[in-house]
Amino acid sequence: MQEPRAWLWRWPLAFLLVLITVVSTTHAAKHGDFKTCSQSSFCRRLRSLSERAQASGFHSPYSLGDGYLSDAAQQGGASWTFSLDTELYPDIHFALTVDFLSKGDGIARLRVDEVGSKLPWKRYNEAAKWALVDPEPALTAVGNVKKVSSKGQTRFTYGVNSDLELIVDHAPFKVTFRRSGEDIMYINERNLFHMEHFRSKAETPAQVDGGDAAAVSEQQVFSATSGKKDTTWFEGEPDAELWEERFSKWTDSKPKGPEAFSVDISFPGVEHIFGLAEHASPLSLPSTDGGRYTEPYRLWNVDIFEYEHDSTMALYGAIPLVHAQNTKHSVGLLSLVASETLVDVVHAKSGVQTHWMSESGIMDLLILPGPDPASLFKQYAALTGTTDLPPQWSLGYHQCRWNYIDDTDVLEVQRRFDEEDIPLDVTWLDIEYAEEHRYFDWDKKHFPDPVKLQNEVGAKGRKMVAIVDPHIKRTDDFRIYKDAQDKNVITKKSDGKTNFEGWCWTGSSVWVDFFNPASWSWWKDMFSFNVWKDSTKFLFIWNDMNEPSVFDGPEISMPRDNVHHGGWEHRDVHNINGMMFHRATHDALVVREEPAKRSFVLSRSFFAGSQRYGAIWTGDNMGTWDHMAGETSMLLSLNICGMTFCGADVGGFFGNPSPEMLIRWYQAGAFMPFFRAHAHIDTKRREPYLYEDPYKSIMRDTIRLRYTMLPIWYTAFHEASRTGTPTMRPQYVVFPKDDKGFAVDDQYYVGGSGLLVKPVTAPSVDSSQVYLSDNQPYYNYFTHHFYPASDSVRNVTVPSPLESFPLLVQGGNILPIRARARRASTLMWRDPFTLVVALRRQGDAQGELYLDDGESFAYANGDYVWRGFRAVSERGQTVVSSFDKASSENGSALTRLGSWASQIADVHVEKLVILGLETKPTSVTVEGEAGDLAWVWEDGCAATDKAEGTASRLTIKAPGVRVLREWSIRIV
Ligand SMILES: *[C@@H]1O[C@H](CO)[C@@H](O)[C@H](O)[C@H]1NC(C)=O
Ligand SMILES: *[C@@H]1O[C@H](CO)[C@@H](O)[C@H](O)[C@H]1NC(C)=O
Repeated sequence: MQEPRAWLWRWPLAFLLVLITVVSTTHAAKHGDFKTCSQSSFCRRLRSLSERAQASGFHSPYSLGDGYLSDAAQQGGASWTFSLDTELYPDIHFALTVDFLSKGDGIARLRVDEVGSKLPWKRYNEAAKWALVDPEPALTAVGNVKKVSSKGQTRFTYGVNSDLELIVDHAPFKVTFRRSGEDIMYINERNLFHMEHFRSKAETPAQVDGGDAAAVSEQQVFSATSGKKDTTWFEGEPDAELWEERFSKWTDSKPKGPEAFSVDISFPGVEHIFGLAEHASPLSLPSTDGGRYTEPYRLWNVDIFEYEHDSTMALYGAIPLVHAQNTKHSVGLLSLVASETLVDVVHAKSGVQTHWMSESGIMDLLILPGPDPASLFKQYAALTGTTDLPPQWSLGYHQCRWNYIDDTDVLEVQRRFDEEDIPLDVTWLDIEYAEEHRYFDWDKKHFPDPVKLQNEVGAKGRKMVAIVDPHIKRTDDFRIYKDAQDKNVITKKSDGKTNFEGWCWTGSSVWVDFFNPASWSWWKDMFSFNVWKDSTKFLFIWNDMNEPSVFDGPEISMPRDNVHHGGWEHRDVHNINGMMFHRATHDALVVREEPAKRSFVLSRSFFAGSQRYGAIWTGDNMGTWDHMAGETSMLLSLNICGMTFCGADVGGFFGNPSPEMLIRWYQAGAFMPFFRAHAHIDTKRREPYLYEDPYKSIMRDTIRLRYTMLPIWYTAFHEASRTGTPTMRPQYVVFPKDDKGFAVDDQYYVGGSGLLVKPVTAPSVDSSQVYLSDNQPYYNYFTHHFYPASDSVRNVTVPSPLESFPLLVQGGNILPIRARARRASTLMWRDPFTLVVALRRQGDAQGELYLDDGESFAYANGDYVWRGFRAVSERGQTVVSSFDKASSENGSALTRLGSWASQIADVHVEKLVILGLETKPTSVTVEGEAGDLAWVWEDGCAATDKAEGTASRLTIKAPGVRVLREWSIRIV
């Protein structure tokens, strides 16, 4: 969070004067706090390349040598390194390495670095080390790649089906990625590849000619000193800010000078690209060359105050990944770079063109071959990992506010939820729980006995989350500060020696450098119950402000010339910084208990790979309809970028939503993977029980609906943990052949369940249009209204009065739900299931259910239950049955029930609801048992019908079958 007015009043007067200066300069206007492209010298230099590229005669000065600097024989796998030279600077050399990885169906990797520089600097090459599961991903065997070299071109044929080609043109340097003979992606087709070489200051005009430096062009200098060529046709006029750069009142010392790089990547025949989270933009990324957007998509993690709902401005996290999609193929591109990166997008006749500009580091591109979205998720997961199964309770409802002021407040809020029969799993504490915002140190005036409080909450089956931010108060009586000094793990100023100090919630602060391995075990210890004596196993952690947010720093963050472990500048690692903090806290929580338990750590900042460490949310949103509407596309974008465990502050962080708006937020939130209400300290209290009916009852029903669906969410998370497939799936992911649906980003499917949701995000709505791609019937979850199958894509109208919203079940799916309301999800583990069977027009359906103890890692040893359900209609009868999904997936015998599974061996199915049967049955029996079951038939539309109406409904009561057993129910 960030809101200066509110935090000022709680500060000792002594700080006020200092702060007022800080605040008035940093918050004059939110736009002014953050750089535009033209305010960054590297972006100015590189973006103008694309203008110069329009000139006739413009060409790439870069070319590859025909030989190799090293080849597969030296690398022990499919890897070749070319020399890459530029006619601009004959004495400067680069190398291009082309790797083919062994995992992920044929991922190719292209890296470019400068080689042979006489200067003592290196480009940052460790983004992969933190983002990837294997810092050095294994190469595929040489035999899996066929290489044909000729003068001027090298052609690699690879992939599991040998249908992929990477064609490397030598002069000019260009790479074409092909599948089955079709061009899918071009790198440097527009000749915008450029890597600024390391140079000494003397090489630049400013040094050569003292006083009148700016007037002397680089061309003149070079021709005068070394007879070098005119470079301005490519690089533009020399830039005065190569060695020092000012923004507002800050000066970036840029000790290594310029080292930016630029590369254009085009996707021929494509109209939609997705990704580049996090931006408050549509899912299908619009052009940035005028019209809707004029600024490139900016990746530079920032703490942004009241962000705009429709913008390419940088937000809290950065995932440099795009998916390009047309009806024939999908392809992905990951650019592993952690420095500031801006991406221009242009929708041209030939396809979508992108231009990537990064301030520092090596170029490290990974080409994910597709050919469909499901494959892209697997390939991205093979590289960066997936979200582990979260603790099951973390999928319940979270109640947060800045701040629950004391222990009585916490318990009273829970009592009120109980009194009103509203489920609640987690109560959160924002920064005020900590004495002087020294996280770990509870404010004992307001929380005299934190352990007792946590135990009381835990006894109800609930959890607590407390915030631990990365800024550390500089007072010697704070043990964390003391330790961090003693261990010398504090991030340094540009001199590399002095601790960097800045302002944040706690006043004057330092920041631990989590790139320093010396910090890791120490940070782990901080969370051990022996060390943090005021914590219990019921307490989990929220890592906010980890971009990092520095109130008096440039762009409200750290100076770029700060120095991290290994001598790397902050500019090199900035976008990974938040992930390192999240990672350290995650690792600490996992080992608190013996045996280990799953952690829950919410982070605001993130990078590619952050999904491995827990949940994230979309930061300080506003309680407006625009923001609510924008959240869906933001969360979809996060999901396709691997962040499957994400949510948005329900109600909006800022503002006082009307009851109508709050209800719509709850309905949207109940279908976000992470479901938390949160509010700013200046807002009115808005816990659901505070409202009159019908508002209160609608919010209660909405939260209960979430609990009903927890098995569906948990099953979706299970799939995400195995394959990386999103828990929220946009239309293009589910229907990659229907390009009319590619831009749809206001509705989505929940995991593989077939549930289609469209939140209502506007006032006074009583009906909504839902877009349907497939030739299947859909059923309204609430009313069982039937929308017939159709050969063509279509919109259907779904009633959406305040208490409802579009929630459809796609024909062909079986939903396992738990219909009984409980005060917390942890109390539901032995509750019976209801199966909702929505028939396809072919008369069949299938579904799945994953269950385990919800908090340990016993599932990794096979102690879980993974059931499949299936309905088949043949010869006038329908059979619904249950089978072991784990063994069917693995093709082995039925898995043995583990010790947890045997505890739920008697959990039964209490009801089946079958929608879309043709005719009223004459008998409903359990296979192998005598006697008709109790059932009720309500006439209505069959799955094959062509007109809307109410679906036929067969309700089977108490069939007596158990979830863990094989059974068949025969409907004749
Ligand atoms: C569905 O509705 C949207 C928005 O109202 C519209 O843009 C789209 O063309 C419609 N699609 C179909 C297939 O009717
Ligand atoms: C499938 O079998 C493998 C190897 O025995 C095992 O590691 C894995 O956990 C099994 N997967 C499931 C889902 O049971």
